Amino acid sequence: TDSTRKSMPSALTFERHAKCSTTKARASTLQLPHGSVPLPIFMPVATQASLKGLTYDQLRDTGCMLCLNNTYHLGLKPGQEVLDAVGGSHKLQGWDRNLLTDSGGFQMVSLLKLATVTEEGVRFLSPHDGSPMLLTPEHSISLQNSIGSDIIMQLDDVIATTSPDHARIKEAMERSIRWLDRCIDEHKYPERQNLFCIIQGGLDLELRKQCCEEMVARDTPGIAIGGLSGGEAKEEFCRVVHTCTNNLPETKPRYVMGVGYPEDIVVAVALGADMFDCVWPTRTARFGQAIVTSGTMNLRNKCFADDFTPIEEGCTCTTCRPVDQGGLGVTKAYMHHVTAKETVGAHLLSIHNVHFMLNLMGNLRQAIIEDRYPAFIREFFSNIYEGDK
Ligand code: GUN
Ligand code: ZN
Repeated sequence: TDSTRKSMPSALTFERHAKCSTTKARASTLQLPHGSVPLPIFMPVATQASLKGLTYDQLRDTGCMLCLNNTYHLGLKPGQEVLDAVGGSHKLQGWDRNLLTDSGGFQMVSLLKLATVTEEGVRFLSPHDGSPMLLTPEHSISLQNSIGSDIIMQLDDVIATTSPDHARIKEAMERSIRWLDRCIDEHKYPERQNLFCIIQGGLDLELRKQCCEEMVARDTPGIAIGGLSGGEAKEEFCRVVHTCTNNLPETKPRYVMGVGYPEDIVVAVALGADMFDCVWPTRTARFGQAIVTSGTMNLRNKCFADDFTPIEEGCTCTTCRPVDQGGLGVTKAYMHHVTAKETVGAHLLSIHNVHFMLNLMGNLRQAIIEDRYPAFIREFFSNIYEGDK
């Protein structure tokens, strides 16, 4: 460990309001350059500077204060020159709330089977013209500096948690620490963009602890737990999150990347995590799946053809809210009618699903503040597992 490193400036404040007396759940407020964000939070993913199925007005209406952009997609199109010319992604998109960008390497490795990782960076063939490309820690940070996102992520070496290759998992963890140092050195605007490190180490709790120790010493404004969006068993997932949060400072926000489903979020919050992102709510909407209190519901099912109730009774999203309350008053029957082929079905359902996730986070935060989170968890799971009885 290089203990002589100077500590990094930060462009955030993290204020804790409440801590659950029986679990590790916390309720806090994250103050970022584009406004304040209540934690725990779910962050929708707007890959190509647009959330599939939602306009930014609609996204704002869901109450979203912080969403994701992808570095690599923006770096390819419109490209760094255009981003620099327009003054970053907020201006390009007309989004005046907060943005978080992932570093791009994970997307390359998970999307492109041909990506290879060396000490230099992630090598892959351009999905546009097949030309060889190299994403280094320096290039990722430079792109994220041009994007101007409020939270930027280090480039990390991500291995599927299900990989049996322990030596490779250890190498990836150690390389991610070295890449963090390169990211810190390259980062030009620490006073207006917050660089988060990403804890790796697979399912090996010793590796996770070592990684926490090394990365915490680098004193980044926030900390992410990576490598967990794969097919690991729920118990393993919990063990890793629990071990990491036990080895992270209480005073910094903790972000579990690529997670996830409401069940995983509710549990990870109890283990002390604060931030989450996932494409699932908008992706599943495009397949006609609604997220509701009892789980999920496929509106393509014929049983909804003559069901004239809202997607979820009492839901206050723009889609479900009655017309006389300023909403669209959409029914399951209408959704069933449009969801198979019309893009409007995906839009309406994306609005509902993103609203559902944000509303869940609001309810969960209130339960932590009132110190009744365990009861909240019990009710949440009984709605899912006993809702149909
Ligand atoms: N998204 C989901 N998991 C990860 C991860 O481990 N690293 C990065 N950079 N992005 C992710
Ligand atoms: Zn709704």
